[in-house]
Amino acid sequence: MTNFNITPNRRNNIHGYKWTFVPKDVLPMWVADMDFPAPKPILNALHKVVDHGVLGYEIPGKVLQETVAARMDLLYKWKVQPEAVLTVTGIVSGFSVAARAFCSQKKGVAIQTPVYNEFHEVKNNIGIPQVDIPLVKSVKGNIISYKIDWDVFEKQVKKARIFLLCNPHNPLGIIFSRKELTRMAEICIKNNVIIVSDEIHSEILLNGNKFTPMAKISREIEKHVITLVAPSKTFNVPGLFCGFAIIPNEELRKPFEAELHHLHLYVGSMGLHAANAAFSGQCDGWLKELNTYLTGNRDFLVDYVTKYMPNVRTTVPDATYLGWLDFTQTGIEGSPFDFFLKNAKVFLSDGKVFGKEGEGHVRINFGTSRKLLKEGLDKMRKALDSK
Ligand SMILES: Cc1ncc(COP(=O)(O)O)c(C=O)c1O
Repeated sequence: MTNFNITPNRRNNIHGYKWTFVPKDVLPMWVADMDFPAPKPILNALHKVVDHGVLGYEIPGKVLQETVAARMDLLYKWKVQPEAVLTVTGIVSGFSVAARAFCSQKKGVAIQTPVYNEFHEVKNNIGIPQVDIPLVKSVKGNIISYKIDWDVFEKQVKKARIFLLCNPHNPLGIIFSRKELTRMAEICIKNNVIIVSDEIHSEILLNGNKFTPMAKISREIEKHVITLVAPSKTFNVPGLFCGFAIIPNEELRKPFEAELHHLHLYVGSMGLHAANAAFSGQCDGWLKELNTYLTGNRDFLVDYVTKYMPNVRTTVPDATYLGWLDFTQTGIEGSPFDFFLKNAKVFLSDGKVFGKEGEGHVRINFGTSRKLLKEGLDKMRKALDSK
């Protein structure tokens, strides 16, 4: 059994981001990585490479493509040919590559807001238009949830060339249903829009929830989808920058692959070895325990907010280790991000980086020990109580 209650000190890492970016007296609960060591089979694979000693050029071979294809079959009974699997230097690189391959200054990218900040950067990075499709918030007691407005979806998505779908959704934690995915896909296909489905969080499933990849819905839909997956969130190896674009349709795959080569976006050898070990199935026992622990953290967070933070609203995420808290009813002046940094010494993700609908909200990363989660929430509660 893995003891997720114990987390190593991350403040002394010279290249560290989450813990090193913030002052020593501030608790980081922001960028989306977890405070847990990666599972042993991945660490063993990396040790083996280091022990060999020669760190020459390495390329992702057939073995890795087969490993990724086998994982899709194992998880979803989604049969993909190994050659449909391309390696990318992270999922965000995949957004840019897809946008460069398919968008123009007239037709750009559609995104469902509020959404992961890097979705908003594609327009700037590539110089293309962005179309927003706001999700519609509803409130029940102190629980918030978000739905698609289908009229808005159709009206907006048809202005774009690619629809960048975030499923499971960061920061809202939604797993879109088969029905919703089918309807989104039908609208995209009717309007000649390619779906780029970011499924990076697809294996962080809380409470035993199930996930269906967009491209698995039907062979017809699959032809219009670029699926982006990675071991990075699931097995906590994002620093190795290794992801995959699964593109069964050659008409989409060839232009995507050409852009990858133009840009020389090749993954480092450590990323390749780690990904192979991660997707080989050897880490799945660890993953099961992780998802149980994270479900406990999610429930702890929702209960805590409900009991001790009056007027604060929260999502109940189906997936991811990201909570979304709404402070719009609390009378905090200015942004809750600034408020908690100043008064609680907790560094969260400012809701407004996810789109204007995120103002008055923060994203909280609960991919940590229960002890640190409680410590952060206690500090936030105290700051709210003494406001
Ligand atoms: C939805 C989503 N996509 C992509 C990424 C980052 O992917 P990468 O580091 O592989 O570029 C994140 C990280 O938080 C994310 O939440």
